[in-house]
Amino acid sequence: MKIFVDSANLRDIEDALQRGFPKGITTNPAILAKEPKGDFVLHIRRIIDLVRKYDYDIPLSIEVFSTEEDEMIRQAESFVEEFGDYPNLYIKVPIGWNELKLIHRLRSSDIKINCTCCMSVNQALMAAHAGANFVSLFYNRIRDLGHDAFAIVKETCDILRLHNDPAEVIVGSIRHIVDINEAFRAGAHIVTIQPKFFPQYCSHPQTDAAVDEFCTKFKDWLS
Ligand code: E4P
Repeated sequence: MKIFVDSANLRDIEDALQRGFPKGITTNPAILAKEPKGDFVLHIRRIIDLVRKYDYDIPLSIEVFSTEEDEMIRQAESFVEEFGDYPNLYIKVPIGWNELKLIHRLRSSDIKINCTCCMSVNQALMAAHAGANFVSLFYNRIRDLGHDAFAIVKETCDILRLHNDPAEVIVGSIRHIVDINEAFRAGAHIVTIQPKFFPQYCSHPQTDAAVDEFCTKFKDWLS
């Protein structure tokens, strides 16, 4: 059971790294586009530097940003060339018929893959069959179509575990705190979460009330 940080924001990533819980970082082109305009390579390099600064060695996923076959290959290869010195680099490739070719090609060169944008059990299993190390299912985008995201995550995880498949399921597209535990309950190996949820995920009004009460009583006793 692992939590990944679903962000490319340097401050948010650093805030999380300082707290010890992240077991990985996922980015995608839309997440990167939330950051100030700038040099893509430099930005990813800054994320890698941060991860190293805090002495982590955790998976970092970077996604291709084309749907054209040759361009996807070119981008994937350029990521490997640029960031290959980071051994825990995962190339994120969306699921699809042509994309499976790219996954197979990269896996043949031992490049790690996070197959992303999976919305069904079939897609997730095909990604695993093609050799993806991570298979990303998009919880709330699945729900947007009226499907049962819990059941899809559960069935995918059950099948992979039944057959001792090494692929790990990442659940992304988390929109509510409740989705996180639900995804873990469905068997997800990993949930990737936007940083805005982290403070809320470890807070409780009764905790605040208890801490307040303890401090007040002790201060009274001291005075
Ligand atoms: C996961 O790897 C994705 O980056 C992310 O969770 C996508 O979800 P969203 O675009 O629906 O937020």
